[in-house]
Amino acid sequence: MPGRIPENILEDILSRVDIVEIISGSIPLRRAGRNFKALCPFHHEKTASFMVSPDRQIYHCFGCGKSGNAFGFLMEYERLEFLEAVEALAKKAGIMLPEAEKQDAKTVSLVTQLYKINELTAFFYAQNLISAQGAPARNYLLGRGIKEETIKLFKLGLAQDKWDALISHLRAKNISLSLLEKAGLILNKEGGGYYDRFRNRIIFPIFDIKSRELAFGARVMDNALPKYINSPETPIYIKGRNLYGLHLAREAIKEADYAVVVEGYLDFIMPYQEGINNIVASLGTALTAEQARLLKRYTQNIVMIYDSDKAGELATLRSLDIFIEEGINVKVASLPQGFDPDSFVRKNGAAAFKVKIKEAQNLFDYKLNILKARHNIKEPEGKARIASDMLPTIKKFKNLILRAEYTRKFAEALNVAEHYVAEELQKIKEDRPYTGLNEPPSKKALNINPTEKLLIKLMLEEAEFINRIKDNLEPADFQDERISRIVSIIFDLMKDGQEIVPHKLINHLKGQDDILQVVCESTFLPEVSGQDREKIVDDCIQRLKNERLRLKRQHLHEEIKTAQLLGDEEKLGRLMQEFHLLVTAKAQKDK
Ligand code: CTP
Ligand code: MN
Repeated sequence: MPGRIPENILEDILSRVDIVEIISGSIPLRRAGRNFKALCPFHHEKTASFMVSPDRQIYHCFGCGKSGNAFGFLMEYERLEFLEAVEALAKKAGIMLPEAEKQDAKTVSLVTQLYKINELTAFFYAQNLISAQGAPARNYLLGRGIKEETIKLFKLGLAQDKWDALISHLRAKNISLSLLEKAGLILNKEGGGYYDRFRNRIIFPIFDIKSRELAFGARVMDNALPKYINSPETPIYIKGRNLYGLHLAREAIKEADYAVVVEGYLDFIMPYQEGINNIVASLGTALTAEQARLLKRYTQNIVMIYDSDKAGELATLRSLDIFIEEGINVKVASLPQGFDPDSFVRKNGAAAFKVKIKEAQNLFDYKLNILKARHNIKEPEGKARIASDMLPTIKKFKNLILRAEYTRKFAEALNVAEHYVAEELQKIKEDRPYTGLNEPPSKKALNINPTEKLLIKLMLEEAEFINRIKDNLEPADFQDERISRIVSIIFDLMKDGQEIVPHKLINHLKGQDDILQVVCESTFLPEVSGQDREKIVDDCIQRLKNERLRLKRQHLHEEIKTAQLLGDEEKLGRLMQEFHLLVTAKAQKDK
């Protein structure tokens, strides 16, 4: 990579310049407690909200959100490229920059290593599948209507029925067990040693948008449970952050200007194989806001097709609100009872599937139909119940025209005077300021859970806290997606033995302005005095843990209720077991 400057040199430069001196060379700064203040040079304002911290060597504007370290300031203020800013400050600090070519191979980051390992792993599994011993697995796939070329395209593979097939294969390539563990590919044995996570299963590599293997899903070849197991979260894989198949589908999505969203691996693969290429899979039940935003890069229009069961319906309903909040137009296609996209396409073909897509209902009609099936819309009580489920959805439309229009339609459907519906709508609290339909969310409105923000601040002040948090929480336990990204970067750097302070961390956030802003804003939270700090960290951790458990329990409970309703014994068994594990784990921790 020409022109890449080793991290230690960047840090060296930063440690020899003073951000206060640099910024005050361009704009007048005034002291404000431990920090300095100024009228922000990046947006128009009358009262100063631009802060510079000499302790942390960063700046942050509470008005427009611009943030960064000394490099960032020069880039923004002097309109320099990153390398130009580095050169300018290196000169000031009296540091010689190495020639671009001297970039050493030793600094290959953990992230790069994990991608490489996943690539080797996917290749190994794919080889297994086409080898002689892969015959039963190949037959399983062919039996499900998956063609040879599809197997290749999706790099499907096979994990053999052995405890150490992958371990031996990668150990022979000198890859350390500790890296394999970090990649989530192997597990610790009780008595010491390791074993392969995936055994005797079909492997579905999960790719990112650049076609790099992020993680794996693995399906049994019979009716054993659990049907799928998946990679855990790793520094490169955070669940709900990417969409299965997007690397192959994005051009088609752009072209068709809509995306079909399905649930499972095979619900994606089968339609894709049959020529429906503008499709992605969410790989869980409900869709996340992050996934919705990812799709929005390619289209504003979504057609959801989840399983035609109660769980699919619930997942669809949950996803609808997320799409609306993101200003995406969403429709819902329904399949006949008992079908999912995979089985429907296999039985009826792609053309019939396209008809279902064409006939998709708009989300309002879809939700209303479901609610009407649950409550009697002719009875006053039923009307009120339906309204209490429907109004929050209507409220999620940021565009007032759409909101008004749906309010009108809803009043009509309920057969209630419109102004009553409108008044009920008023009572529902809006959780975000109005931003119009397609406008990006306002930079000012960071609106982050204070517990999570505080933990970021404290982690950046004391490395000891990072260990403590790492022992108790995973990045995904942080509910704010940006915070969980920051935490995963921090954990990563910690593993690499790096010093973690704001102005250095910032060097690792290039191109991620949203989280840069979060880091800087957290840094400027009021100081927490010495003796309280540990207790505060522990309290925050406990709060997030409780929240995690609560969410998990709530989610499982919902699924259990659905499974009960449907009499889906197989699913119910699996869910109850999961629920039991969850509750006993909690009991143990509480001891
Ligand atoms: N899933 C999972 N773990 C499970 C069950 C399901 O991760 N134990 C995820 C998988 O991504 C799966 C999706 O949820 O593809 C949908 O699950 P399900 O409908 O049960 O499976 P199908 O995708 O229909 O798989 P198949 O057709 O092979 O039965
Ligand atoms: Mn299926």
